[in-house]
Amino acid sequence: MYKTIKDLDLDNKKVIIRCDFNVPIQDGKIVDDNRIVQSLQTINYAISKNAKVILMSHLGRIKTEEDLKKNSLEVVAKRLQELLDTKVIFVRQTRGKELEDCIHALQPKEVLLMENTRFEDLNGKKESSNDEGLGKYWASLGDVFVNDAFGTIHREHASNVGISAHLESAIGFLIEKELEELGKLNHPKREFVVLLGGSKVSDKIGVIKNLVTKADKILIGGGMSYTFLKAKGYEIGQSLLDEENISFCKDVLSQYEEKIYLPVDTVVTDNIDEKNIVKNVSIDQIDSDLMGVDIGSKTIEAYSNLVKQAGTVLWNGPLGVYEVDAFAKGTKALLKAVSESSAVSILGGGDIVAAATEFGYKDKVTHASTGGGATLTYLEGVALPGLKNIAEKE
Ligand code: 3PG
Repeated sequence: MYKTIKDLDLDNKKVIIRCDFNVPIQDGKIVDDNRIVQSLQTINYAISKNAKVILMSHLGRIKTEEDLKKNSLEVVAKRLQELLDTKVIFVRQTRGKELEDCIHALQPKEVLLMENTRFEDLNGKKESSNDEGLGKYWASLGDVFVNDAFGTIHREHASNVGISAHLESAIGFLIEKELEELGKLNHPKREFVVLLGGSKVSDKIGVIKNLVTKADKILIGGGMSYTFLKAKGYEIGQSLLDEENISFCKDVLSQYEEKIYLPVDTVVTDNIDEKNIVKNVSIDQIDSDLMGVDIGSKTIEAYSNLVKQAGTVLWNGPLGVYEVDAFAKGTKALLKAVSESSAVSILGGGDIVAAATEFGYKDKVTHASTGGGATLTYLEGVALPGLKNIAEKE
């Protein structure tokens, strides 16, 4: 158990809260504000305890001057202000006099958001390389630190690990909830069924290695399934192939054949965007000029039945190109099956949560994680850097 915000004295203190406000933005508008919504409990708690609240977050990745324009947190400040129903003072600096003066003038129950922490990456990647001086400087702006950025917990950056090296620190309610929900996977109700999709095998190697010994069944779909199928000797036409990892797939399949399920049929097309051909074929009948883009109808039925028998379902990565309606059937059908099952159901962040949100299933599962890469790191069973300086309690 890590020390939480409830263990800190916040009264009249300058409380730095690291959130993950890295939300999708299109044409200057927030497309999905879930991460902001999920941060409210911690922020409201700090306000209720009379804290002077200083919020920090990254947004996107900053490599050029152009990126600075596209990735200001100002739009987040506006949305946060609506959601909190409290004024949010937005400071267009990550360091400097204006920021320091605004923090100095901050009164209890007031909320300030500073500019995107990754603006510090433009000259020398100071945020992302956890620059010692930057972490120390940011820490000097507050009295205590709360890390509530679960989505960034797999990063060792100045705004999480750097600050917490210099201030009394704790986790917020969001990280606490994520650790509790994902922690259920350590004592899963059987059967423990894992759905694994997404495009690349390489992204999932650590997860497969860790979960294959714990899960009862691993059902594979998405782009990565074609590399597994190739490893089994099938011809996969123009489907995604992760050549370098064919031998990894072969090894896992030979060691855990009874646990790993592959599609028996697939939807194929000639072109994802301008499709002339869309058909459902058996896995041994993929034409050399076509590519697989979704699991097929027999696979949908088989996987849905396995999900129905599960006590716990963990799902990471969509099962097809769900962004295109014609190839979203598998992901949609399995989301429906998962939402209707009585199993503890956990969606491991990233694309599968985006799909669940789009198709209306996000609130019908036990837990939809706010972390993409963070959840993958958690599922690999390795230490989470963002917790490094947070004290454990009895
Ligand atoms: C995410 O969206 O996964 C987190 O906000 C981390 O972002 P990053 O991959 O750019 O570090």
